Amino acid sequence: MRIAVAGATGNIGQLTVAALERAGHQIVPVSRKAGVDAYTGDGLDAALRGADAVIDVTNTSSADEAGIVEYFGTITRNLLAAGERAGVRHHVLLSIVGIDHGQRVPHYAGKREQERLVTAGPVPWSIVRATQFHDFAAMVAGWARQDGTATIAPLLVQPIAHGDVAAVLAEIAAGAPLRAVLDIAGPRTEDLVDMARRTFGVRGEDVTLVPTWRGIFGLDMAGEVLLPGDGARLGATTFDDWLAAGAR
Ligand SMILES: NC(=O)c1ccc[n+]([C@@H]2O[C@H](COP(=O)([O-])OP(=O)(O)OC[C@H]3O[C@@H](n4cnc5c(N)ncnc54)[C@H](OP(=O)(O)O)[C@@H]3O)[C@@H](O)[C@H]2O)c1
Repeated sequence: MRIAVAGATGNIGQLTVAALERAGHQIVPVSRKAGVDAYTGDGLDAALRGADAVIDVTNTSSADEAGIVEYFGTITRNLLAAGERAGVRHHVLLSIVGIDHGQRVPHYAGKREQERLVTAGPVPWSIVRATQFHDFAAMVAGWARQDGTATIAPLLVQPIAHGDVAAVLAEIAAGAPLRAVLDIAGPRTEDLVDMARRTFGVRGEDVTLVPTWRGIFGLDMAGEVLLPGDGARLGATTFDDWLAAGAR
């Protein structure tokens, strides 16, 4: 199949391209570095010509909710419109488990907007909601890190390896549209504070962690809201495997 990967140069995108190539598919990279801008639409029609499926693993560097919703929304609209013009038969969106909660998390508003547009859109679709990636705890602590101290919410998560996400995306894109949401997660639950502590330990970084629910991850994210639903697919790679491989 000919499969366009929007976000082909990103963490998940690169591994998705590799997984698709291993399965014998022809890849069309969609990324500004590859000369195609899904936000402005530059080069998009040419890139999607002849594509059977599109996988959207783009991201945004906007920090505020309005900017994130606008960026993700515009990219999604452009990909769907160009996909319809090109006769794309399957649009696969990477989303996040638990985004119906976390009303204070700006990124989740953007993902809800993407899901809304995809499910109402003209191209048959699949939504793959992944849990947090293995580097999530250190990334979140990094946002709040100041003078060797970082606040972090004690979230209960079931983190998944980037490679396990990519493998599922490649498989789903090559199949029939699900017209449904599939949850994917790692094999075990973890505590986010403990994950951050162990990641910084492996990386040799000295960070004092202060658990709190008063940051962007508030009490509406306590409990099991970030755990995958029934019927989730579970990747094999544990958080310990990722730490043992160097936590990068
Ligand atoms: N972190 C987590 O724990 C987690 C969990 C579940 C799901 N997710 C989702 O995973 C997705 C991918 O994350 P990631 O870490 O792989 O992202 P990333 O490494 O930041 O990569 C983002 C990709 O998007 C591309 N991109 C951005 N703007 C673009 C534009 N205007 N046109 C074309 N391409 C554009 C970038 O390429 P250029 O810069 O070359 O344009 C890059 O290839 C995100 O949507 C996120 O919501 C994350």
